[in-house]
Amino acid sequence: MRFTVLTLFPEQVRNFVEASITGRALARDIFALDTVQIRDFCDNAYNKVDDTLYGGGTGMLMMCEPVYQAWNSVISQAKERPHTVFLSPQGAVFTQKKAQELLEYRHLVFLCGHYEGIDRRVLDEIVDEEISIGDYVLTGGEIAACTVIDAVARMIPGVLPSSSAYEEESHMGAGLEAPQYTHPEIWHDMRVPSVLTSGHHANIREWKRLMSIYETWRKRPDLLANLEVSESDWITLLAWRAADADKNEPDTKDSD
Ligand SMILES: C[S@@+](CC[C@H](N)C(=O)[O-])C[C@H]1O[C@@H](n2cnc3c(N)ncnc32)[C@H](O)[C@@H]1O
Repeated sequence: MRFTVLTLFPEQVRNFVEASITGRALARDIFALDTVQIRDFCDNAYNKVDDTLYGGGTGMLMMCEPVYQAWNSVISQAKERPHTVFLSPQGAVFTQKKAQELLEYRHLVFLCGHYEGIDRRVLDEIVDEEISIGDYVLTGGEIAACTVIDAVARMIPGVLPSSSAYEEESHMGAGLEAPQYTHPEIWHDMRVPSVLTSGHHANIREWKRLMSIYETWRKRPDLLANLEVSESDWITLLAWRAADADKNEPDTKDSD
């Protein structure tokens, strides 16, 4: 899979993607990353990429031509037309489901705006999809592009040690992941739930299933409707809730 980022700040993108897990995968050619400096495609002596707004208004807007030529430099060399994503606070909000959809493309091109954004005409001409990483405004699309690349790249086979590393995580199903623990078994008088040290795999699976529902109910009740919760599940969940009434940390108790 190839990611190409059209940006005025390629180093921001490279610094992020070339670090840690994605960086190791890049070094092993599990996926490819290209950054394209939009400023290199200016058609004026001052390398000016932005200009004032028609109709008035504060700030500067990135002009069509440098963006178009930067995009065209990628498209003209690609064997098949890549999918072009504009990172924008006006796009559909990014989700795990969208990350899974993007994984289907062999080549994704990310266009990052800066300043007031980008002239609408070039967006209409080259963009296949607009994605936002949340309902707030950033100074530029680079952090958003890195966010999307990271979420997609970690599902490319070989980036993580195994697919179970991401398949069992929050948002991969309908709810949140059950709480997790590592050594030591007791820390600050809090013991790891005994079911997890029991070695009883069926009980562990069932505890994780119920805890996933419980965490979703506790933290993201808006997602609960997506989960299957039986009457007997509710009996357990309500008992846990009652037991936790005096505490804020339900995940630190023995619950088997
Ligand atoms: C300051 S913003 C421009 C906002 C634009 N004037 C508006 O009100 O919709 C500059 C650039 O940052 C990026 N950006 C800002 N917020 C974003 C978000 N929530 N998600 C994705 N990209 C974002 C976009 O590429 C945008 O063109």
